[in-house]
Amino acid sequence: MLTNYWYIACPSASIRRHPLAVQVLSRNLVLFRTEDGDPAALEDRCAHRGMPLAGGRVNRNALECPYHGWCYDKSGKAVRMPAVPGSDSCLPDASIPAFKCVEQDGYIWVCLEPDPVQELPPAFAHLGEPGWTSFRMYNRFEAPVESCLENFLDCPHATIVHRHWFRTPTNREVRCSIQPLDDGAVARYFDEPREKSLVWSLLTPARGEMQHTDRYIAPSTTRVDYRFAENKRYIVTSFCTAVNDQLTDVYTVISFRYGIWGPLIRLFFEPLSHRIIAQDVSTLKRQHLNLAKHEERSFRIIEQDVLLPHIRRWRRSLATGSQPAGEAEAYDVQIVI
Ligand code: FES
Ligand SMILES: [Fe+2]
Repeated sequence: MLTNYWYIACPSASIRRHPLAVQVLSRNLVLFRTEDGDPAALEDRCAHRGMPLAGGRVNRNALECPYHGWCYDKSGKAVRMPAVPGSDSCLPDASIPAFKCVEQDGYIWVCLEPDPVQELPPAFAHLGEPGWTSFRMYNRFEAPVESCLENFLDCPHATIVHRHWFRTPTNREVRCSIQPLDDGAVARYFDEPREKSLVWSLLTPARGEMQHTDRYIAPSTTRVDYRFAENKRYIVTSFCTAVNDQLTDVYTVISFRYGIWGPLIRLFFEPLSHRIIAQDVSTLKRQHLNLAKHEERSFRIIEQDVLLPHIRRWRRSLATGSQPAGEAEAYDVQIVI
């Protein structure tokens, strides 16, 4: 099931003194920190009269409902009911669902099931490692998660949507090798042109070895990896949280290794990356506003849409509690970029 994976609910800094309402996979949660600083995630619905708890406050390590003041600990158990006589009285057996919740890499992660597939959330590639420079981005896409996953791993759109910023069309045919993996799939590009664009002139040596891979990690992660000569490299990792069927929160970390030039490159790379992802946010919004106007919602998928079939296959299988069956052999596709 897609519910037994870890998802980022918010950045760590978003919960300090006050609780926060979030939606993850259409579940409405309230996040808060106990007075010890531990994060907690509960269903955002008081067991008494259904009040949203996110409007309440933290009171002695428990979350207090803003209506009649029932207090819940981080396990979701009601621990105080002010109207019940006696000090700190509470009737037994009143509780709301609690969810697994951990803080890692500056984010609050939740899992909606008691037994996550992995014990701990996955890590962002090279975040905080010596020799690497990283920056973060957050974007809300008005599009379903599959559209976001495909977009982040799709080369052909870059020459149109990000023309001059990220790629400029060269009309050159490039070999792409797609390898299904036991946690998703990877596309490797060979003899990719190094055309003129802002990102490429900043980050791409004109000569020498270059390896580019686009990787889908089921169910909701993408990783774009460029390696160059002299150990230079940059990696874009995006974790997608499906807020609901129509909205996706995307948490991206860009990590790069360019020696002493790292901090200087960041000065340009960071605003440029924000600009480029804003183009994707706008494109996917227009795509889905348009789809909503039409009865026909199916897509025509061509061979050059290299990773969408894998994204769909994995997500549909995991949603039914199975692993995708099918090809494991690598295969090649020619793409004009
Ligand atoms: S609705 Fe929450 S205490 Fe009454
Ligand atoms: Fe894009």
